[in-house]
Amino acid sequence: MNNKDVIIACDFKSAEETFRFLDLFRDEARKPFLKIGMELFYAEGPEIVREIKRRGHRIFLDLKLHDIPNTVKKAMAVLSRLDVDMCNVHAAGTVEMMKAALEGLTREDGTRPLLIAVTQLTSTSEERMRRELLIDAPIDETIVHYARNTKEAGLDGVVCSPLEAGMVHGACGAEFLTVTPGVRFADGDVADQVRVTTPARAREIGSDFIVVGRPITAAADPVAAYRRCVAEFLGVE
Ligand code: C5P
Repeated sequence: MNNKDVIIACDFKSAEETFRFLDLFRDEARKPFLKIGMELFYAEGPEIVREIKRRGHRIFLDLKLHDIPNTVKKAMAVLSRLDVDMCNVHAAGTVEMMKAALEGLTREDGTRPLLIAVTQLTSTSEERMRRELLIDAPIDETIVHYARNTKEAGLDGVVCSPLEAGMVHGACGAEFLTVTPGVRFADGDVADQVRVTTPARAREIGSDFIVVGRPITAAADPVAAYRRCVAEFLGVE
């Protein structure tokens, strides 16, 4: 798999809305890599994944599993049969849980989707970590520590802010993947994201995959916005 790409976050509430959006890309030579999250998956079930795969898209199924190792292992085996290209767990589930996830995901022939872990959600502040989770370490240190645990468990990388991608690569190596939401065009609307950067800057800092939602899905011309993202991030037309 090409380990540098733009992933469009398909944060739609129904299959109908999703396919209306995807139809815009029907004549595109480059089929966008798509992220399907909880809202769409829980609304439409596994069939939406199969249908989108049939259309030739790669899929990051963003369900952020976090449960006892045995349960996560069995759930991952189901996702593996769905033939998604990337899925994820919470690193907070422990190294043992992440190892179980990897085992469940690996098919009999040894192949498997990419598996990454969420470190700390960008919605979690250092203050809340201290007060509610009793984690006293600075948030950056926690992120690097969780990334190291993720690597130790044998996973492929983490979800983090593009601004943290360099730090994670520094701790876990250049080959360890960073999948980064929080991307905006320099002249675009930030909306509710706080720590944002542009596709070009994300490339410079070392993001491997950028996850872009509203700058593409809410654009007047989503295909043009996608092409602009690809051009800025991959440096190709
Ligand atoms: O529309 P926007 O570009 O902000 O979408 C970003 C996507 O990445 C959304 O699907 C959001 O849920 C997801 N995400 C995020 N921050 C995280 C983890 C996931 O924005 N820390």
